[in-house]
Amino acid sequence: MELGEGTPRQIRQVLLLFFFLGGTLVYAETWGYSVAEEAEIGFCIANVIKDMDSSVGVEDLAARGARVIFDDYKSYLRLDLQTGNLLLNEQLDREALCGTTEPCILHFQVLLENPLQFFRAELSVKDINDHSPMFLEKHMRLKISEGTSPGTSFQMDGAQDLDVGANSVQNYTITPNPHLHVKLHDSGKDRKYPELVLDQTLDREKEPEFNITLTAIDGGSPSRSGTALIQVVVVDINDNAPEFERPLYEVQVPENSPVDSLVIRVSATDLDAEIYGELSYSFSHSSRDVQKTFEIHPVSGEVRLKSLLDFEMIQSYTINIQATDGGSLSGKSVVIVQVVDVNDNPPEIAMTSLISPIPENSSPEMMVAIFRIRDQDTGDNGRMICSIQNDLPFLVKPTFKNFYTLVTERSLDRETRAEYNITITVTDLGTPRLQTQHNITVLVSDVPEGPFPARLLDVSGAGTLAHSYQYEVCLSGGTQTSDFKFLKSVTKSP
Ligand SMILES: *[C@@H]1O[C@H](CO)[C@@H](O)[C@H](O)[C@H]1NC(C)=O
Ligand SMILES: *[C@@H]1O[C@H](CO)[C@@H](O)[C@H](O)[C@H]1NC(C)=O
Ligand SMILES: *[C@@H]1O[C@H](CO)[C@@H](O)[C@H](O)[C@H]1NC(C)=O
Ligand SMILES: *[C@@H]1O[C@H](CO)[C@@H](O)[C@H](O)[C@H]1NC(C)=O
Repeated sequence: MELGEGTPRQIRQVLLLFFFLGGTLVYAETWGYSVAEEAEIGFCIANVIKDMDSSVGVEDLAARGARVIFDDYKSYLRLDLQTGNLLLNEQLDREALCGTTEPCILHFQVLLENPLQFFRAELSVKDINDHSPMFLEKHMRLKISEGTSPGTSFQMDGAQDLDVGANSVQNYTITPNPHLHVKLHDSGKDRKYPELVLDQTLDREKEPEFNITLTAIDGGSPSRSGTALIQVVVVDINDNAPEFERPLYEVQVPENSPVDSLVIRVSATDLDAEIYGELSYSFSHSSRDVQKTFEIHPVSGEVRLKSLLDFEMIQSYTINIQATDGGSLSGKSVVIVQVVDVNDNPPEIAMTSLISPIPENSSPEMMVAIFRIRDQDTGDNGRMICSIQNDLPFLVKPTFKNFYTLVTERSLDRETRAEYNITITVTDLGTPRLQTQHNITVLVSDVPEGPFPARLLDVSGAGTLAHSYQYEVCLSGGTQTSDFKFLKSVTKSP
């Protein structure tokens, strides 16, 4: 998508539907918005009030502490509480956010408190063609022996383009010449590379060397390109190039493997005897991440870890390797390293809101806190259970996604106990199990006797949200009001 085409798009369903999850309202529809990367700060993505239909008015936003919460805790968007506009809070760089993952989707929720209500949304960050293809090595040498027969092909390193999809490298060309033409090799996911195919036998006496320019073109409009110079050197001897056992090696490595662990041993053979048969292994035009993380032994072909892996940062590496013989002809292969997740991240707890003090005699299931838990590991390593001490009159209830609410189990009596220290414990199901605790203190405040307890009884069974609503209505002297903020501002009576 081009810049300027960043009009918000909405996916609408015909039915307006809410469902209850642990006593919490969750809007069934997921709002879908999109924005082009690099749009200016302040760019208006959408107006949430329009998407909430009649259920929420603009005046509710401030009153109910509306906020935008992204799954990764960042604040890419800002909610203008006066208008309901969702505004871009920072310039988004698709490449930094999602790398090669496409589509690039950021999940978030709009949360309203009291009653607790969630609206789910996702922001799709569209790629613009803001990067050119680039060869890691701008100047390559290709040695071809004189006797090589036409039709022989030579694998070259492809160019890299940080953009994705159509904006990434689509094709290669070379300067027209009588000796070689380029063939695009497309072996699926991320493995598009050029091959030079020999058109006629080379004659060193006539032309010992020549230069050609290899150009990588992306599919953006307008398209961008990058070039590399290939110096073709015709060698005198009738030599065979080394060949790897496999064109592609795949290996899985646990992310907690120590430095110097063996990743894989590669091996190539060369039909020539003596010096021309002696091989030397090396990386070929490898990325900075690969150079930082791996090393290859020139003689044994053993690839080892040079630094620690981190699954949460990089899940896989593509290592281009080459074997060069004494006559400096070379063969190429690729090692794909899949990093395997181990349970190395403890769960995280983030409090979204805490209501304290809470009034005594309030109805059961009054909401005391909202919090979110997260574990950056995957599978069982990232699955969590959440609990508090057994002997407290509070319950932890899962609400929506990784959001939980802490509610009262029964009404509390300040005279019996005025303070509760609650430890929230989150344990993951990985091996070993990792656990995180968070302590909160909830105070119980005195509530003057009045019409309120009697009124409260009237609404038993009406559900959490109605309870707090009624409670507020009673305390404010029987007048109907939609000021839901009240509960947060209850103070301890002397
Ligand atoms: C790549 O470019 C060549 C030469 O311009 C063209 O013949 C070929 O069809 C292109 N391949 C693809 C996949 O676009
Ligand atoms: C090829 O390019 C290299 C590097 O720019 C240069 O040194 C060499 O003279 C060129 N060869 C020919 C035949 O133009
Ligand atoms: C709660 O914790 C605070 C500080 O850690 C402590 O002073 C207080 O006595 C504790 N209260 C209860 C009821 O355990
Ligand atoms: C939470 O409270 C418990 C019990 O008082 C204590 O053992 C623990 O160290 C506290 N944890 C934190 C993170 O403060």
